[in-house]
Amino acid sequence: MLKPNLNEAKQRNREKILVKTNEYIINDQIKDIGLGKKYFVKTYGCQMNEHDTENIKAILEDMSYEEVDNMEEADLILLNTCAIRENAHNKVFGMIGRIKTLKESKPDIIAGICGCMAQEEKVVDEILKKYRHLDLVFGTHNIINLPNLLSKAITSKEMQVEVLSGQGSVLENIPVKRDSKYKAWVNIMYGCDKFCTYCIVPYTRGKQRSRLPEHIIDEVKELVSKNYQEVTLLGQNVNAYGKDLDLEYTMANLLESVAKTNIPRIRFVTSHPWDFSDEMIDIIAKYDNIMPYIHLPIQSGSNRILKLMGRRYTKEEYLTLFDKIKNKIPNVSVTTDIIVGFPNETEQDFQDTLDIVEYCKYDLAYTFIFSAREGTPAAKMEDNVSLEDKKQRLYKLNERINYYAKENNLKYLGKTVKVLLDKKEKNGLSGYTETMKSVYVDTDHQYLGQIKEVEITDVRTWSLKGKIK
Ligand code: 5AD
Ligand code: SF4
Repeated sequence: MLKPNLNEAKQRNREKILVKTNEYIINDQIKDIGLGKKYFVKTYGCQMNEHDTENIKAILEDMSYEEVDNMEEADLILLNTCAIRENAHNKVFGMIGRIKTLKESKPDIIAGICGCMAQEEKVVDEILKKYRHLDLVFGTHNIINLPNLLSKAITSKEMQVEVLSGQGSVLENIPVKRDSKYKAWVNIMYGCDKFCTYCIVPYTRGKQRSRLPEHIIDEVKELVSKNYQEVTLLGQNVNAYGKDLDLEYTMANLLESVAKTNIPRIRFVTSHPWDFSDEMIDIIAKYDNIMPYIHLPIQSGSNRILKLMGRRYTKEEYLTLFDKIKNKIPNVSVTTDIIVGFPNETEQDFQDTLDIVEYCKYDLAYTFIFSAREGTPAAKMEDNVSLEDKKQRLYKLNERINYYAKENNLKYLGKTVKVLLDKKEKNGLSGYTETMKSVYVDTDHQYLGQIKEVEITDVRTWSLKGKIK
């Protein structure tokens, strides 16, 4: 048993990051384990988790398991979990309860959890004490060992726990079963070294580790050869890409190299304002295939709270960057993340956040009530904002956010925009504009997977409707 350790997860050392290209092995005894059996994976949380699930699915299919959409039909159930806020936690424990009931009638089911919650010491201790019906617990650094863990869980009938808390390395050549034939996630880095005081990610995902540029470019080139239309470059803090490599190769360089592969669309998430360079802005403006869409979390509009959050910028610095992005990248859309009710947030601090929203008029914002995560510095601060006040602030904030979301969308009425139609709907297709607006189009399915010119005929707060030009 290898349990998570919060103290180890906190540490950062200067050791060189190892790139391992041949770690994933699937031997003959293991590759038929799932023959005739079905698996179900449920994913919570961010795109990083979605992409990890694509790796997990490929590994399970290498072991001959077959995917099902319905948990009740599965022989193997995995929950790929998220630890970012309390409510994500609660949902997972609810599912663990449902699995218990299921196992009472089908005791041979193998069930487990992985992802960020598995990296939390307290969660694993609780599982070991109260949820002995689970067979597997493995962490974000242990995905490639799934075949061994699973085969041990099946043969030994004992719970297998393997969670590395250390720094982690960069693993290449992990198989992937992509959810889409048109859009792909591409990891460019793992982990985060920013340690914002509220955030658990640096503990669950480890030290910042960038993939080598050639491995990323090769992956994108392969996607181009398979006719993929869009890649999203993924990382917790993509603008810091390359800072941990000895290559003097930055996110701006990477964006340019990826643009030159001629993949039709490039996106990237998530940006931290601290590392957003002028070179990056210039490259985004220069290449038509880098989408004019920037997710730029501000978290709070109050300098006092930003300091308590450890965000390393002031609202003035954020606004300077925001203005530069708006001025230099034509037609850019900007979205953000905001937390309300951080410990010690006063009405004035919250008003400062509202003022920023009035200024930036975001295309969209993801808004959250602060949730104390055990082990983070903010969890030790006195949480002196009442739940009632937090809820009211969230309500007021969302009201302004929705107002600007609609106002921004209204500008699209009557305009013709390019949409990658990647999803089948009941009576049509849907997809996203270059600026990440969701569009529904009444059309037959012949255009599935294509970028088409669409005239916008109808506007809602969250989506647009249009017809093919
Ligand atoms: N409480 C509330 N929101 C959080 N986020 C991260 N940690 C917390 C927390 N402890 C939000 C931030 C981040 C987004 C992914 O989730 O806004 O940008
Ligand atoms: Fe969390 Fe801050 Fe890192 Fe984002 S940059 S993952 S908010 S610590």
